[in-house]
Amino acid sequence: MYRSLHTLDDQHYVLSLDLEAAASAARAGHWSEYRRAFAEVREALLEHMAHEEAALFPSLEKRDRAAARQLKEEHDGVRAQLKVLSSIEPERDPGACLAELEALALLLSWHLAAEMAFDPDYASRPALA
Ligand SMILES: [Fe+2]
Ligand SMILES: [Fe+2]
Repeated sequence: MYRSLHTLDDQHYVLSLDLEAAASAARAGHWSEYRRAFAEVREALLEHMAHEEAALFPSLEKRDRAAARQLKEEHDGVRAQLKVLSSIEPERDPGACLAELEALALLLSWHLAAEMAFDPDYASRPALA
């Protein structure tokens, strides 16, 4: 599904919606739906970040090394948060699951805004090479 999106901005929008769908399933205690939604958004996020690191960050680094370093560190933070969430048994600890989902949503919203701020052409860049 994500591969059919045209721009990185489109992908950001769908990633945010899909993360909210996973959180909504978790808030409702619909754990099989949550697991499916979380697995999908996790895979899409990892693919999205790998693409950005290969296709975007090298040129950003030439223009603004500090910005490229910050964005890469934020990716590492998102990856770490995905690992935390993957380690939680949501049925056993729904409160931790919801708190860590909120933390991921916050990290992601800061990061997506930072990408747009550092690269004015970001919104129109192709989603995948
Ligand atoms: Fe990113
Ligand atoms: Fe991004």
